[in-house]
Amino acid sequence: MLDFPALGFGCGLRVPHYEKFLTSPSTSVDFIEVIAETFIDWTDGTRLCSREILEKVRENYPVAVHGVSLSLGSQINLEHLKRVKSLLDEIQASWFSDHLCWTGTQGQSQHDLFPLPYNEEAIRAVVENILRVQDFLKRPILIENLSSYVSFESSEMQEWEFLSEIARRSDCGLLLDINNIYVSSRNHHFNPQVYLDSIPFERVGQIHLAGHDDRGDIVADSHSAPVCDAVWDLYAQYARRHGVKSTLIEWDDLIPPWERLEAEVLKAKSVAEMNYGRPAKTLASRTAAPL
Ligand SMILES: [Fe+2]
Repeated sequence: MLDFPALGFGCGLRVPHYEKFLTSPSTSVDFIEVIAETFIDWTDGTRLCSREILEKVRENYPVAVHGVSLSLGSQINLEHLKRVKSLLDEIQASWFSDHLCWTGTQGQSQHDLFPLPYNEEAIRAVVENILRVQDFLKRPILIENLSSYVSFESSEMQEWEFLSEIARRSDCGLLLDINNIYVSSRNHHFNPQVYLDSIPFERVGQIHLAGHDDRGDIVADSHSAPVCDAVWDLYAQYARRHGVKSTLIEWDDLIPPWERLEAEVLKAKSVAEMNYGRPAKTLASRTAAPL
């Protein structure tokens, strides 16, 4: 039985806002997401950021951990997974998510998220990896849909069928990135509403919203801008038709001042409330349990 807590409306923890959380941690956001690779130890013993900021944030907020290099579509690096587990246990993370993609082979990450062919062979390989990961972490994980720019001739089904079937067979949760669905729908010419309506709502534990770079003939997932109107419309439609899950604004490049990011999170809350027809307090159960 999947049971991801309703955390409300949050944002990612990024360096320009560290000072804000260290000096006056109280904000309007309900939860924080951190990138796993920023806070784990690497094989050479280095760590990108000190855990001091993470511990400070965790005193005041529930924290979801998001990975970018698990490579569920190729081989799992067990040493990497051990480091992720130790981070999750140490901060009592609300959940762990990573992407439905591959990032490299033989344990070497290329630091990018590469798409998979949507076919039975890939389903079996990914499901085997997710089951291994969940068994090791002793918890269900959430997998996130990518934005993509190429497709494979060997694909036998639509992306939403691929994602749903993998989630069903591995009994994992889903992190539904509505901006990624929009970006891919423009690049591959499908109807994003069909995608959203095909995803099993009961498996969705979190939603991502973000901005992108619209170059007309191609749309790039840049996380460098506010959420666009078309993505807000899809989110509103999703809330009306299906409901609301913990929702997070991703803003990773051209990062604005804290107040601008906070306003974007509050906009998500207001769009969700308006379209779901319930006040925010029933959409979130903020649980910053002390460590
Ligand atoms: Fe995302």
